[in-house]
Amino acid sequence: MLGGVSWSRASAAETRTVRALLPSATHDTLAVKVLLDAPPSAAPVLTINGRQVRARQMDQDGYAWGFVQDGLRGGTAHELTLADEHGAVLRAPWQLKTLPGLDEQPESFRVLFFTCAGGDEAASALSIDARRKLFDRALSFSPDLAVANGDHIYWDLNTALKIRGDPASRAEKAERYRKIAWIDQDTAFDSETNRRSLNTVIGRQIASIYEDRFASVPLHFISDDHDYFENDNGGTWGYTFPPRPFTLGLQRRTAAMAYPFALGRPQLPGGALTSEAVETVRIGKLAELALFDCRRGWDTKTGYGVLFPEAERFLINRLKQSDASHYIHVPSNPIGWTAGKLGEWYEDRPPVGTPGSDKEFWLPGWFDQHQRLIKALSAQRGRPAITISGDMHAVGAKRLTASGDLDLSANPVEAILAGTVGTGTGWPSGGRGMFPSTPGKLIGTDVVETYEKNGFTLLDVTPERIEVRQFSWRAPEPVEAIASLQPFASYTIARRG
Ligand SMILES: [Fe+2]
Repeated sequence: MLGGVSWSRASAAETRTVRALLPSATHDTLAVKVLLDAPPSAAPVLTINGRQVRARQMDQDGYAWGFVQDGLRGGTAHELTLADEHGAVLRAPWQLKTLPGLDEQPESFRVLFFTCAGGDEAASALSIDARRKLFDRALSFSPDLAVANGDHIYWDLNTALKIRGDPASRAEKAERYRKIAWIDQDTAFDSETNRRSLNTVIGRQIASIYEDRFASVPLHFISDDHDYFENDNGGTWGYTFPPRPFTLGLQRRTAAMAYPFALGRPQLPGGALTSEAVETVRIGKLAELALFDCRRGWDTKTGYGVLFPEAERFLINRLKQSDASHYIHVPSNPIGWTAGKLGEWYEDRPPVGTPGSDKEFWLPGWFDQHQRLIKALSAQRGRPAITISGDMHAVGAKRLTASGDLDLSANPVEAILAGTVGTGTGWPSGGRGMFPSTPGKLIGTDVVETYEKNGFTLLDVTPERIEVRQFSWRAPEPVEAIASLQPFASYTIARRG
């Protein structure tokens, strides 16, 4: 793994052979992914409360290992240890808590949200150092759970090398890829070149920033366009989504190696392809988060939507069935903002003459699906309608009172942009000349003004209300300022009477 990832060691007894440690949890299960520096001669050993958990090798070469233990008590801190195959300690023992039991009503629960943490600092992404500092500041508030909403990796293939930009910029990208990690679409998917390159990309873009920071904070990864190694684009040649078999394979391999285990996938009728687009997180009776990928299910033939019909049905049914105090939609694709991108729910075009605009390939049925989803959100009795999105390189919040012919004023949609961790120079108003703004078919007011800045959002969820705190930072503000960053906006979303 090129790129020299440093491991933040808790004690001198630890070796430097672990690259990253990514946990996840439900009310009765704990899971951990471990990324190693080099394949071991035998599986590493993880224990929970002194009991060894069976190791699963997550890749052909043995860089990635997974551990899943069910049957645990909910809402309880469990002690974990990790050693190598010879018994040498790989990390000081640490605690990880199961989520509250399904019948519990915790008094409060803090969730961290952010998006777009990926990107290579040799390209245009924010420095690894600044990203680690953003994570460390967010973690200093001791969240109970974290959601990384999409774009964990930016290593676009066809869109970067063949479709977007001028020949000179494509050649520059190709040269960078050849130097760092060339992925060859003409050889077998599992070729040694491709395995090595994927490992390098994962090392540089995921392991490097997470390291063991989230060891005690269950993490959830949602996938978005770049996680399939493409941007969302269309043209006379077709569309980059739904993912073709090669890019679907890359996303799945990355997920197997370096996403925390997704423990809350429903079993949808379409099998793994559709089920992997959705995950639910149940926090006792306090809240349920519905995480969903808005890329994999693109329907470019009939224009039905960007989510598989089975996924849409599941989301709406779950919303109706859930007895949680709060039910929150967490789509990879922004609800409430447009920056003129093809893959948005909205028809809004970037300014005339924007180079590379492909908005004419946008399909109206995508907005119809948006309408069905927010109609269901707003129709909830008692619960506020909340959605917190990824993808957009910006941070802010809006209250939407109408969308197309839907009147949402009885229960307005509280739309939040989580904030981007990895963006260095690729801001929407730079690329497409369009500042993230309210789509033409929506009526809403700013609760928090939108900023094209790095940042993250904390939700303090209690039975009666949710306190939202948003943080932002952007160069040339000093990197040192991140360590004491304060929320630039705070507000309350109350449960409805
Ligand atoms: Fe994205």
